[in-house]
Amino acid sequence: MRIYKVKDYKEMSRKAANIIAAQVILKPDCVLGLATGSTPEGIYEELIEGYQKGDLDFSAVRSVNLDEYKGLAPDNNQSYRYYMRTKLFDHINIKAENYYLPDGMAKDDQEECTRYDNVIRTLNGVDLQLLGLGLNGHVGFNEPADHFAKGTHLVKLAESTIEANSRFFESYDDIPKYAYTMGILSIMKARKILLVVNGAKKAQILKEVIQGPITPRVPASVLQLHRDVTIIADEEALSLL
Ligand code: F6R
Repeated sequence: MRIYKVKDYKEMSRKAANIIAAQVILKPDCVLGLATGSTPEGIYEELIEGYQKGDLDFSAVRSVNLDEYKGLAPDNNQSYRYYMRTKLFDHINIKAENYYLPDGMAKDDQEECTRYDNVIRTLNGVDLQLLGLGLNGHVGFNEPADHFAKGTHLVKLAESTIEANSRFFESYDDIPKYAYTMGILSIMKARKILLVVNGAKKAQILKEVIQGPITPRVPASVLQLHRDVTIIADEEALSLL
């Protein structure tokens, strides 16, 4: 694990965006694994800036997102597809047919999970997987569990995750309780992993992820076994290490 300690959110975003930019420059048709949530927003802003300056070309880039809420239509402003379009895809020259997310409106859960795993397989896997870290140690929506899930699967979101998401929804009933997520094995198969973490509230879980036992109770702890993980975290998030 390579750990970069940075001053603040801005520096974290810039450094992570530089790593993604380097990947795109080195391999213009690379497969990026992308995440949503508040942590990567600054990274996406930096990437848009790089594109607008003419430094980055996404015309051959393919991407797969980690997860999508079940039951939210693509145009629902809380869906992850909507997030990705408004925060990144609509502002760069990635082709619409080249980015993939699970389909939140799929009728058959098992079929959708198999379809998504096939998408990842057909793309020949992920070159660089960007990850945020949940307060309970989740990555994607792989919540603390008794075992590490392999491929894409439907998860019942943990109460703490539902609560963390409540800020985006008007009422409890509106908050999705299930999501499709790439499995831990799919994430671990990425050739490079970039984990970004900021803020004091994640200090305890980040310490467990880096120094604690490898356990599905702290899903991100499995990253200790990956051979090319870069963690970029700010001083607050690293304050307990
Ligand atoms: C999002 C995702 C989640 C988030 C995590 C952290 O696609 O897979 O694992 O990365 O919940 O979310 P934020 O960044 O909002 O703290």
